[in-house]
Amino acid sequence: MEALELSVKQMEERIQEIKKKLGSRLYILGHHYQKDEVIQFADDIGDSLKLAQLAAENKEAEFIVFCGVHFMAETADILTNANQKVILPDLEAGCSMADMATLEQAEKAWQYLTHIYGDTIIPLTYVNSTAAIKAFVGRHGGATVTSSNAKKILSWAFTKKQRVLFLPDQHLGRNTAYTLGIQLDEMAVWDPIKEELELDGDVNNIKIILWKGHCGVHQNFTVEDIKHLRRTEPDMKIIVHPECTFEVAQMADENGSTNKIIQTIEQSESGSKWAIGTELNLVNRLKHNNPDKKIISLNPYTCINCYTMNKIDLIDLLNSLENIVKGRVVNQIIVDEKTKEDALLALNNMFMIK
Ligand code: 13P
Ligand code: SF4
Repeated sequence: MEALELSVKQMEERIQEIKKKLGSRLYILGHHYQKDEVIQFADDIGDSLKLAQLAAENKEAEFIVFCGVHFMAETADILTNANQKVILPDLEAGCSMADMATLEQAEKAWQYLTHIYGDTIIPLTYVNSTAAIKAFVGRHGGATVTSSNAKKILSWAFTKKQRVLFLPDQHLGRNTAYTLGIQLDEMAVWDPIKEELELDGDVNNIKIILWKGHCGVHQNFTVEDIKHLRRTEPDMKIIVHPECTFEVAQMADENGSTNKIIQTIEQSESGSKWAIGTELNLVNRLKHNNPDKKIISLNPYTCINCYTMNKIDLIDLLNSLENIVKGRVVNQIIVDEKTKEDALLALNNMFMIK
């Protein structure tokens, strides 16, 4: 029977059946932003750093079904062995932020920036970027970062060179650099569309060049949301993801990676009240798992889901598994060998930095 003809219960039973049948040949990974209907079947759940590490550690599974977005599946393909196949249940599960930096744009920016700054600059890229961008960064001696380790990796970069080009999320770059004491007038923004550098002060004083990219999900949380909450719920604490704007991150009580948000909520006192500025599936799961705390989205009036993360549903997951059982590998994510080799340099630099 086709997945579409089955009830939810029948689909769930069939997934369990296939998981049992394939055993350790199958490994399902799920990002925290995935829907509950999918995440319930993940062998491991994590943020992007943890999922990259788990994919690298697993040498056994023949099929890694990645319930997340395209760049995460690419990273898994780079980090796994040649005999392991990484499958993305829905190829439309991309990341709009990752798509904001292409290799061609990065090459042009690099040409422009090295013309001004010579050999005083090193690139870093948020893992939310294509394999081609990671490879570009690897070729130029840089590293990848995640929201959990951005501060540590940025500090490392400044031990290597005077300046950093940070791709593709300007907000994570700005928020992290500021925590290292870099002032706003020491930051410039590279606009890849206009191919120009936006800055307030002296070009020679610039320490970090932020790529003009952003996350359309996290940019939805605003200063107005925080002001409204401070008026209506003055005893509620606010925690946001560093993909939110600088102003929002500054006004919040805390900001941190997906992992930090989860830990902060789980370790907070019973009865505490939290407004969270991140993806709604995660906020709802935290609310469900912490019934002794009051938890709301920082913007409870808008459905702040990651549209592309939410592309993957129960039917997609079941279809991927049915195809594996039939000996067909559909929606495999394959990064070409040269890109893999260079991207691995950037990923390994990240893993090596202590
Ligand atoms: P994490 O690195 O916190 O998992 O975030 C990934 C992501 O896409 C956030 O929008
Ligand atoms: Fe990309 Fe934003 Fe979705 Fe994360 S939440 S996957 S950065 S679009």
